[in-house]
Amino acid sequence: MPRKILVTSALPYANGAIHLGHLVEYIQTDIWVRFQKMQPKDKVAECWYVCADDTHGTPIMLRAQNDGITPEALIERVHGEHARDFAGFHVAFDNFYTTNSPETQEQVNFFYDRLKKTGLIEKRAIEQYYDPVKELFLPDRFIKGECPKCGAKDQYGDNCEACGAAYTPNELKNPYSAISGAKPELRNSDHYFFKLSDERCQKFLRRWTRLPGRLQPEAANKMQEWLGAEGENKLTDWDISRDAPYFGFEIPDAPGKYFYVWVDAPIGYMGSFKNLCGQRGIDFDEFFRPDTPTEMYHFIGKDILYFHALFWPAMLEHVGLRTPGGIFAHGFLTVDGAKMSKSRGTFITAESYLKTGLDPEWLRYYYAAKLNSTMEDIDLNLEDFVARVNSDLVGKYVNIASRCAGFISKKFDGQLAATQAEWQKPLREAAARIAEAYEQREYGRALREIMALADTANIFVNDKKPWELARHDDQQTELHAACSQAIEAFRLLTLYLKPVLPKVAEAVEAFLGIAPLSWNDAATPLPAGHAIKAYSHLMTRIDPRLIATLVEANKESLAPVVEKKDEKNDKDKTAAPALPASPEANAPISIEDFMKVELRVARIVDAGHVEGAEKLIRLSLDIGETENGQMRPRQVFAGIKSAYDPEQLIGRMTVMVANLAPLKMRFGLSEGMILAASDPEGAIPGIFLLAPDTGAHPGMRVK
Ligand code: MSP
Ligand code: ZN
Repeated sequence: MPRKILVTSALPYANGAIHLGHLVEYIQTDIWVRFQKMQPKDKVAECWYVCADDTHGTPIMLRAQNDGITPEALIERVHGEHARDFAGFHVAFDNFYTTNSPETQEQVNFFYDRLKKTGLIEKRAIEQYYDPVKELFLPDRFIKGECPKCGAKDQYGDNCEACGAAYTPNELKNPYSAISGAKPELRNSDHYFFKLSDERCQKFLRRWTRLPGRLQPEAANKMQEWLGAEGENKLTDWDISRDAPYFGFEIPDAPGKYFYVWVDAPIGYMGSFKNLCGQRGIDFDEFFRPDTPTEMYHFIGKDILYFHALFWPAMLEHVGLRTPGGIFAHGFLTVDGAKMSKSRGTFITAESYLKTGLDPEWLRYYYAAKLNSTMEDIDLNLEDFVARVNSDLVGKYVNIASRCAGFISKKFDGQLAATQAEWQKPLREAAARIAEAYEQREYGRALREIMALADTANIFVNDKKPWELARHDDQQTELHAACSQAIEAFRLLTLYLKPVLPKVAEAVEAFLGIAPLSWNDAATPLPAGHAIKAYSHLMTRIDPRLIATLVEANKESLAPVVEKKDEKNDKDKTAAPALPASPEANAPISIEDFMKVELRVARIVDAGHVEGAEKLIRLSLDIGETENGQMRPRQVFAGIKSAYDPEQLIGRMTVMVANLAPLKMRFGLSEGMILAASDPEGAIPGIFLLAPDTGAHPGMRVK
């Protein structure tokens, strides 16, 4: 029975640019889909890849407010940018839609209606955090505090990035509003819940988790943790409504109440697919009825596993639809071993990568080489990126064609001799193994195998030395045979690489004068007498200078914005002499003078007592500086011992003077100063450490 497959990637939020972290997922999915689409129709009859922008929720509403536009205008603009970036990286969705669509709304209402009838929706009044300054109920992501499970600081209200726990904002310790910084108030409001704690959900999820292929082993373990032991009821009901003001779908029988964005987001997969079905005449129901043999897979990041492995299957099951055949979670991208960082220039947008002139297929190749079927994080090491692409793609793969094709054109009128030979056997036999690796999302394994085969082909070319054969009139037959066989090997390698390098493959198909390669073509070699076109270069090496440019372009400027003086208009230079520098505290200084002081946001990563010092605390401060890819802390001795315990300082943010000449003290080097306030008269006791507002990062410049 030929397979019919529906594939999704997570829906990117419509309030930010696509970056290289996102692309891990879209490239991973795209490779898998392209692989499926290369299968013969009797194996894979249909494979549809849908996505959409995730357009609802408070962040998008606030962002639009901030920009002075409507949410609709914002999401439309971002949709254009996202579509452009995905196309730029050859991510070929069959449909890239929006959750703010009639199809999605219709489905959402259907789910709500069905779940209500099933008795899985419950209305109850809850106390919820309200921001008294901004005058709105705070969404989970806008409340921060300490994780109730592991105690990690500055965690969002819905789940913890440190330990992965999911919880409600009311469980957070020491909450604060991430919008205004205000201490939120608890207020009453009616909310709608999906009863995940219901026995039916528990039972179903336990069963579903155990079905083969649904979850990766690590994910299944997480599920077991969330579900608890047999007989235990660890799942809690899920709040699916939000109060106005909100940008989203209004709940049909509850004016002023909206569906929480995470309700319509996964349903948005269906909305996008439904829209595609309308365009292409696909049978939508065949993919969602529970009794058909179609398949549905969701590619996601490990951060959103909870939503996809618990709520989503439970909702689908209880509205009577097909549940996912697999949730494929990947890890997070790090760059040079660390979280992407704006100050280091490693928070790289898709747009800037393309604008710098880097080839999207370089990144596709590198990600593929690093990807496997687990949830492990993957690292983009920029040096390794250059080395790997240059050596594998240019040095090994392209090299085969570039060394042989010219002779076929020049000496044999573009026509091939017999192309098959015994030495190619491993190249042909690998087809099934490579296919299996792609199917299992073991792309790294597939590429290792393909590169080993490229080595085999290069050894053959090195042995034959076509460039030498070409110089001897009596060795033209051998030259013709060797180059023809190498071209056939190159065709096979191209076929195997095609899911990863679709544009290169297209160029090769044109060069070889063949129809688009599909997987079965591995068994059909180019025939003798087949004519190929003239070879033109397929891929260049990465110039490492481009990488430096890229990183520079993504560095969030920490330099002060000093207004440039317009020389011509600066006539009054002589008329208004600058105020003399004054030692008095209240004499005005120029902005230039102020700018000499480099103030930076600092995180206190460590603090301790200093032996033999009455007033000092030794601080270790993260101000975003690194050395060999590691954070390099500054040591500062601060005279704040009378007011603070070292323990209570660890983890706090403050401001430091970063360009103070280092001072050698009895206890060690002091590399700056932190800022604290105190009453100059000494009437009010105490020392008060300065702290930036929520959201500031170590290294940000204060000015
Ligand atoms: N809107 C939700 C998904 C809703 S799906 C019904 C969302 N959006 S997102 O824009 O934050 O992320 C989209 C996808 O990109 C997620 O799967 C997320 O895990 C992935 N990634 C975002 N940053 C990433 C990295 N730095 N590394 C790898 N993947 C990352 O979540
Ligand atoms: Zn935690």
